[in-house]
Amino acid sequence: MERRMLIAGNWKMNGLQSARKEAAALIALQGGNMPGQFDVLICPPATLLADMARDAGSSGLYLGGQDCHSEDHGAHTGDIAAAMLKDAGAGYVIVGHSERRTDYGEGDAQVKAKAEAALVAGLIAIVCVGETLAEREAGQAFAVVGKQVEGSLPVGASAKNCVLAYEPVWAIGTGKVATLEDIASMHAHIRGKLKTAGGAALAAARILYGGSVKPSNAEQIFSMEDVDGGLIGGASLQATDFSAIIDVSKSL
Ligand code: PGA
Repeated sequence: MERRMLIAGNWKMNGLQSARKEAAALIALQGGNMPGQFDVLICPPATLLADMARDAGSSGLYLGGQDCHSEDHGAHTGDIAAAMLKDAGAGYVIVGHSERRTDYGEGDAQVKAKAEAALVAGLIAIVCVGETLAEREAGQAFAVVGKQVEGSLPVGASAKNCVLAYEPVWAIGTGKVATLEDIASMHAHIRGKLKTAGGAALAAARILYGGSVKPSNAEQIFSMEDVDGGLIGGASLQATDFSAIIDVSKSL
C-alpha cells in the first residue's frame, strides 16, 4: 500500500485569534490549495479550531486537535471530547505527545484509551512515542519506544485511522535533531512493531518524525525510507517556514 505523506503542524499552546492569519497566509503561499500528493494538517489550540476550519474552506488544509479525553462526554472539567473536536472541524487528533506524558503523567494505557475515543469519533489518531535523553544514553531507546507503541496503539488501529509520530523527547524544541541513522533505525523498529501488532495493513501506517524539523532539514529527513512526513512544532507557527517545508516535500 502506497503511504501518503503527512506534514503536520503542532501549534501547542500558541496562538490568539490573530494567529489565524498564519494559516490564511499558508493557504495563499500554496496558491489557494494544499498540494495534491500529500496531506497537510495544522493542530491549533482548541480555541481556534472551529474558526480555522471555516477559514480553511475547500483549500484542502486539514485541522486537528492536540489532545482529547478518553470518554465521549461527562463531568470532566476542562477536558475536550474527541467528538467535540470532530464537531469543530477536526479530522485528526494528537494523543500521547511527550509534553502531555510529562506534564500530566499520561501513560500508555491512557494514551491508548484516548486514541480509541478518537477512532470512535471518526478522527485519525496521531499517536506519539519517543525516548528521553537519559533513556537513549542508557541504551534503552528501542525498548522504551517499542513498549510505547505496543501499549498506546488503539484496538482497531489501521493504516487508515492511525498515524505514529516518533519524537525523541530531547529533540523537541531544542534545535537538536536525531541523526539520520538514528531516525532510520527507530522508524524501521516502529514499522516492525506495527507489523507484529496488526500485520501488513497496520505496517502501512504512516510514521512521522518530530523534533526540530525545519525548512533546512526537512527534505533529508522526509526522504528516508520509513519516514512518511513530520510533526512540526516551532517551524509550523510561521506561514513562511511551514510553507517552505511543504515546498521541499513536493519533490519527494
Ligand atoms: P518542535 O516540536 O518542532 O518545536 O521541536 C515538535 C513537537 O513537539 O511536535
